[in-house]
Amino acid sequence: MEPDLEAGLTTSRAPGGTVIPLRRHPLEIIIPCTFGVLGTLGIVWLLVCDPLAPCFPTFSVEVAGFDGLDGPAVAAPTLSPAFNLTLHGVSRRHHIGSLELCQERGTVAVSYAGAVLAWGRVPKFCVPAHGQRHVGMVALGADVVLSDELRDRLASERLSRSAELDVDMMLDRQRLLSCRVNLDEPSSQPSPCKVFTGDW
Ligand SMILES: *[C@@H]1O[C@H](CO)[C@@H](O)[C@H](O)[C@H]1NC(C)=O
Repeated sequence: MEPDLEAGLTTSRAPGGTVIPLRRHPLEIIIPCTFGVLGTLGIVWLLVCDPLAPCFPTFSVEVAGFDGLDGPAVAAPTLSPAFNLTLHGVSRRHHIGSLELCQERGTVAVSYAGAVLAWGRVPKFCVPAHGQRHVGMVALGADVVLSDELRDRLASERLSRSAELDVDMMLDRQRLLSCRVNLDEPSSQPSPCKVFTGDW
């Protein structure tokens, strides 16, 4: 039997000209509601995600381990610290404009209050569109001289677990990542990096 197409009408004209209300078909309510909800979600998505803008991965960094900043090393005239760093690159998963980013080479520097403590190479990596990549690297310092003032400041900040280091990565494709990590208070989340792009 054919589906009753007239069931969607809310009124029907009786032969005498009087209007007889009919029971509303459930679809008549469900369909507009569905469109309403989808429309609202769509507007929210447009406002929040700006899906037409190309979207490169975001980056964060964490100190996976370090050495040479504790115990007798601190009393020596120079420091030779070592840092194991992990860079996390994440592309937006649900974003049309999500772009892959590949880096051939780069350098990393770890510094405290403007004084470089250690440096190293950033290995080649690709963050896939809609995906993520974790990149491990090592930064080493050899016979680094810190002023007495900076040494004292670092020592007292480490006692209160508030010492912060700057991790800066200069990547090819004109990208500079600038991240700040706490040395003694590793958070559950890696520290977000600011990304600077341009010609230099
Ligand atoms: C860095 O990681 C390597 C490999 O996991 C490990 O052998 C080394 O001891 C680590 N170094 C530091 C300073 O954490």
